[in-house]
Amino acid sequence: MPLQVIIGTQWGDEGKGRIVDWYAARGDYSARYNGGDNAGHTVTVGEKLFKLHLIPSGIIHPQMTAILGNGMVINPQTLLAEMDMLHRAGISVSPGRLHVSHAAHLITPAHQALDRALEGKRGTGQIGTTGRGIGPAYTDKAARRGLRMADMLAPEFEARLGDHITEANRTLGWLGAPELDPKPICETYLQAAGKLSRHIADTSLELHAALQNGKTVLAEGAQGTLLDIDLGTYPYVTSSCTTASGVLTGLGLGLDAARTATVTGVVKAFQTRVGSGPFPTEVFDELGSRLRGSGEHPWDEYGTTTGRPRRVGWLDGVLLNYALRVNGVSELAVTKLDILSGLDSLRLCTAYRCNGQRLTDLPLIPTDLGHCKPVYEELQGWNEDISAARSPSDLPSAAIAYLDRLGSLTGIPVRLVSVGPEREQLVVFPK
Ligand code: IMP
Repeated sequence: MPLQVIIGTQWGDEGKGRIVDWYAARGDYSARYNGGDNAGHTVTVGEKLFKLHLIPSGIIHPQMTAILGNGMVINPQTLLAEMDMLHRAGISVSPGRLHVSHAAHLITPAHQALDRALEGKRGTGQIGTTGRGIGPAYTDKAARRGLRMADMLAPEFEARLGDHITEANRTLGWLGAPELDPKPICETYLQAAGKLSRHIADTSLELHAALQNGKTVLAEGAQGTLLDIDLGTYPYVTSSCTTASGVLTGLGLGLDAARTATVTGVVKAFQTRVGSGPFPTEVFDELGSRLRGSGEHPWDEYGTTTGRPRRVGWLDGVLLNYALRVNGVSELAVTKLDILSGLDSLRLCTAYRCNGQRLTDLPLIPTDLGHCKPVYEELQGWNEDISAARSPSDLPSAAIAYLDRLGSLTGIPVRLVSVGPEREQLVVFPK
C-alpha cells in the first residue's frame, strides 16, 4: 500500500488528524499537497495537544519524513513558528526530516491584506475565508506572477518581493485598505529565507524515489471535498484542489502512483461547516448546541484556525456519496461517533426534495442546494458511553446499525471509528 491518501469527505474539520495519526505509525513519508495555514489539524498525544496548520501531522512520528508539496501555499512566518513549537516539544524539524517543495508558492502579508479587504467588499456575499491570504496567493499562482519557495534562494528575491508588495498596494488602495511598507516585509522574508533554505528541495523527485523503493507515502488532505475549487459547493469553497486527484499534481506524482493507492474517506458522524454557503441538513437551537459542544474542549466544534463556531447538522448521505465518487474512496473512517451517544433517535439524509423533484445527487445549479430539503431516515440512538470501545463488539447494537446503514448507503466498508479525542480511542474493523 505505497500511497495512502486521507481525504475529508465533508466541508473540512472531519478529524483527519486522528486518522492520519493512526496510519502514520506505519508510514515513511507524511505529505501535505494542498492549501496552506487555513487548515488546522489537532493531534493529541498523551497530555500534549498539537495544533498544526502547515506541517503534516505525521511529523509527530519519529520515523516519518515530512513533506510540504508543490500544491501548497506557504506563509514562511507560520511555518517557522510551527517548527519552533515542535522543536520546543522535542520533535525534530531538522532539514533531514522536513522538506518543502521548491515549487510551493509563498503567501505574503500582501495576500493576507488582500484576502481581508476583498472579503470586506463582498458584503452579504462573503465566503467567510480564514483571512490567511489563501485565495490571493492562488490567484497570483494562476496569473503566473506568484513567488515560489525556490525564488527565496535567488539574488533577485528582495527586488521581486518589493515589486509584488508595490503592485498589491495599488489594489489595496483601490479597495480602500491601508497600504503596506515593503521594506520590513522584505527584511522579514530574507531572514526567513536564510532559516528555510536547507529545507527547500525537489520533493517530487524525493517522493517518486520513495515510492519506487517500496516506501509508504501518506498524503494528508487539508479541508474537505466540498471545499474543492472545482468539485466543491462553488463559490463557497477554498482555492485549491482538496480532493484525491490533487494528490498527484500537488505532490508531483504520476498516475502510476495512483494505481497502488488506498483512499480513506474521513466522515464525521454528523455534518459541520465553517463560513458561508448552502448546508441542507443544518440544525439550530438545542440540538445544534449539543452537537457543537460548549467550546471548553479542544474537540468542540470551533475552528482550529479562526475559533469561529462551526455550523452543525445531521449527516448528509447525498453529499457523502458524491464525495466518495469524486475521490474514488476505498474505505471509510467515521469520526466523533461518541458525540451522538445519548440522542434518542438519529437522522440520516438519504435524498433531497428540490424544485418538486426527489434528488439523490447534487442539483446542477449550486445555489439550488440551498433550497434543497433533506429527506431523512430515522435511526435508533443509543445511551451507552462508547468512549471505551476498542473493538466492534464493544459498541451497542444501535451504533453498529448506524455504521451498517452508512456502509449500505455508500457501498464502502467502514474501517476505522473514533470514539473520543485520545489517540487510542479508535475502533478498528477487520478488513
Ligand atoms: P479560505 O481557504 O481561507 O479562502 O476560505 C474559504 C472557505 O473555506 C471558507 O468558508 C473557510 O471557512 C473554509 N475553510 C478553509 N480552510 C478550512 C479548514 O481547514 N476547515 C474548514 N473550513 C475551511
